[in-house]
Amino acid sequence: MSEVEYRIIEGLPGEEVLSWVVEVSDNAFSSVGGIAEYQRLLTGKRSVLTCIAFDEGTPVGFKIGYEERPHYFESWRGGVIKTARRRGIAQQLTRHQHAWCEQQGFRIITTICSNDNPAMLILNLRHGLRITGSFLDRKEHLKLIMQKHLDGKPPRSELPHPDAVGEDE
Ligand SMILES: CC(C)(COP(=O)(O)OP(=O)(O)OC[C@H]1O[C@@H](n2cnc3c(N)ncnc32)[C@H](O)[C@@H]1OP(=O)(O)O)[C@@H](O)C(=O)NCCC(=O)NCCS
Repeated sequence: MSEVEYRIIEGLPGEEVLSWVVEVSDNAFSSVGGIAEYQRLLTGKRSVLTCIAFDEGTPVGFKIGYEERPHYFESWRGGVIKTARRRGIAQQLTRHQHAWCEQQGFRIITTICSNDNPAMLILNLRHGLRITGSFLDRKEHLKLIMQKHLDGKPPRSELPHPDAVGEDE
């Protein structure tokens, strides 16, 4: 099996990088649009990081995230093309992303994962993210809020339980 190459691109991705991302996302999940749509969604974001996997020069996987607020890195979107799955590519992309976040001094990685996306959910759990909340998107789709503390602390729910009477520390 060929060796997969990983590239890490810091900052707002240019058109060539986004063309690779769109190529992968069109195959990996129901796409959100083309290059212009990614540019629109990412413009103005700070500390954007794009990790891309290439197999023999062809983009096969990606992961994009950005600073959501000080110390918080949002792992925003990612996928691996269907024919390249279960080869550890998403795992490697996640490792690269988390290592970069640590180097940059981020304290918490956050992501939102659909409850009906078990592959992504398991991948996130295996990389130390934990469910800290949930919400119903468009009154229909259950979304899970996940976090990983890079200092190793267990993440806490950001939404207090209505019956909570105080801090539990
Ligand atoms: C989730 C996804 C990125 C995984 O990519 P991948 O390269 O196949 O994942 P890996 O090979 O690195 O798998 C790592 C681990 O994740 C888990 N995993 C991955 N795919 C899985 C699946 N279909 N079912 C259950 N667990 C799965 C396993 O624990 C796996 O380890 P193992 O193979 O040793 O059992 C890929 O399935 C995908 O692109 N899905 C669509 C993504 C999507 O919906 N994106 C839009 C929202 S961001």
